[in-house]
Amino acid sequence: MIAFQAHTSEVINHLNGRRFTLARVADIERSQAQFERITSICNEPMVFSSLFTEMFPEGRYPQSAARDFVNWATDGWDRGTHFVFATLDSDGLVVSTCDIKSNQVEDAEIGYLCSAAHTGVMTNSVMAMLALAVEAGFLSFIAHVKADNTASQRVLKRVGFRRGGESSPGSNRHRYRADKASILWPDSPGVDRSTEAQLSTQKPERAPGQP
Ligand SMILES: CC(C)(COP(=O)(O)OP(=O)(O)OC[C@H]1O[C@@H](n2cnc3c(N)ncnc32)[C@H](O)[C@@H]1OP(=O)(O)O)[C@@H](O)C(=O)NCCC(=O)NCCS
Repeated sequence: MIAFQAHTSEVINHLNGRRFTLARVADIERSQAQFERITSICNEPMVFSSLFTEMFPEGRYPQSAARDFVNWATDGWDRGTHFVFATLDSDGLVVSTCDIKSNQVEDAEIGYLCSAAHTGVMTNSVMAMLALAVEAGFLSFIAHVKADNTASQRVLKRVGFRRGGESSPGSNRHRYRADKASILWPDSPGVDRSTEAQLSTQKPERAPGQP
């Protein structure tokens, strides 16, 4: 049974030291600026070409999809079926998202995306999400990554995942996996875990963006 005890965590951009907040997408402000921000990130070339070309063959992620995404994420938290987080800037606007796509405690699939304007937050956001998820009862995680998506593979390696086969026979996707121990105590060289905040969790006091 999955029960998140904490829903927020501080995230630091590794490259510039700026501070962000990881929060449930269910708790983010639903403003026009927010939907425009999500739409804009999803239309960035790297994000769109990696994730949305099949879903939107017309070549554009529409703003209605951003609203659908927030509703789907909120529904996941309400029903306990999937768990979607966003990393928020000081205005409460999304800069990246990451999620756990199921409530099965073994081999739960994760995913993530990040605005190119905020490169440096993704690894630390995923680390923060996984720390909350381990505390909530998850035991192991998987990710499916396109063979040519080397930036994503580096994120996974930094958070403690290791490659273990193809997603399916003949697939161009690699399967990565991590268990609880390799996430909390990875042996990845060059990963800066010095910031206590990256692995510490905070009890939610209020939803981001709310007075
Ligand atoms: C995949 C994606 C999220 C990677 O974003 P990113 O900005 O490269 O990721 P990070 O913020 O973690 O890392 C940026 C740099 O900061 C550094 N860095 C960040 N956190 C760090 C940490 N904790 N320790 C050490 N270095 C760190 C690294 O140098 C890294 O660059 P490098 O991978 O070239 O060495 C982004 O390209 C994206 O959104 N792509 C489209 C969506 C997608 O592919 N999603 C994954 C589907 S499986």
